[in-house]
Amino acid sequence: MSSAIPFLDLIAPHLELERELVGVFRQGLHTAGFVGGPMVEEFEKAFATFCEVGHCVAVSSGTDALRFAMTASGIQPGDVVITVPNTFIATTEAISQAGALPEFIDIDGQTYNMSVDKLQQFLEKQCTRDKSGKLISLRSGRPVTAVVPVHLYGQMADMDSILRLADKYGLTVIEDACQAHGAEYFSKKLNRWMKAGSMGRAAAFSFYPGKNLGACGEGGAVTTNDAALASTSRMLRDHGSVKKYYHDMEGYNGRLDAIQAGLLHVKLPHLAGWNAQRRDRAAGYNQSLASNKVVTLPFEPAWSRAVYHLYVIRTSDREGMMNHLKTAGIGTGIHYPIPLHLQKAYASLNYSEGDFPVAERVASEIVSLPMFPQLTVQQQAKVVEEIQFYCQGSH
Ligand SMILES: Cc1ncc(COP(=O)(O)O)c(C=O)c1O
Repeated sequence: MSSAIPFLDLIAPHLELERELVGVFRQGLHTAGFVGGPMVEEFEKAFATFCEVGHCVAVSSGTDALRFAMTASGIQPGDVVITVPNTFIATTEAISQAGALPEFIDIDGQTYNMSVDKLQQFLEKQCTRDKSGKLISLRSGRPVTAVVPVHLYGQMADMDSILRLADKYGLTVIEDACQAHGAEYFSKKLNRWMKAGSMGRAAAFSFYPGKNLGACGEGGAVTTNDAALASTSRMLRDHGSVKKYYHDMEGYNGRLDAIQAGLLHVKLPHLAGWNAQRRDRAAGYNQSLASNKVVTLPFEPAWSRAVYHLYVIRTSDREGMMNHLKTAGIGTGIHYPIPLHLQKAYASLNYSEGDFPVAERVASEIVSLPMFPQLTVQQQAKVVEEIQFYCQGSH
């Protein structure tokens, strides 16, 4: 059954741009330029400019972008890469596929991003130095070499603090910016607003259709200011080659289709406006739900300009509220219901319930409300009305 108010409307933005998007398909058909070529290169240039970085390498998915960024930044098989448990599994899949081992840090209870205090505690108390001075995780006995903050729901993690700790402990920082195209962070250190994807050694973006900038299929990108890292990422996406049939190393088939690059290039000039609409809708929810004592609203620190890939509230009676909204024809989601350390796929990591209490509690209470640029004021009013109605009746 289709919702009267969908969780996400993927049709409206495409119909708005139908003529230009069809033009890209036509250009692809007429030139048979399906893989590589000018459409990819032009999009890469434009997305690098948007992210305020020197280089963008377009790849086949956000997962590949993460994996290539990690490998190209020198993360070695057997290394430990630190991340959070409340992310999509792609973050840790990429860590494992790069040959490394994920270890988790709990999240901040307000922003739901990596807790800087917990990261500091981990580095100070759960690691040691070996004879050669390498930082070793006491948990696994392996060298800790990198940290992957995830800019969850479109809000950046506290990058100044993470970069300060990373610098102190010699860690590489790879941003998982897959949900954060255009998000900004005010760096006190640099005294200016910084774009997601421009602060770490490298970053990964996803262009999965539902993202703030989505392809009409799969796609992703590595962004970086490091020319060598960019050129290794280019090789990794293309079977380890710079010149056709000359392979300097083994790589992957991880390229972005030219037609997808063209479609993304058509959409890119609209991204800032779409993000502004998302921020506007978030402000609308914040204002109309401010008096509701049953739900916890998203928290945006003064240093953050989030792009609300998702608008996520918390309530102890999640199931009841979601069922009520479903009956009223309103779509919702949970991002994500089971933290990664408790997933079957990671049973071998030997984490247990209670290891990351903040992430576990948050996972049991979060609900993502309808959020997309074309969400109308009337639709939003209806979502708010149903939430208020349910909360009054249930308490
Ligand atoms: C936080 C996060 N990391 C990584 C990914 C992986 O991106 P993709 O689905 O394009 O491989 C996603 C997207 O689903 C994501 O939300």
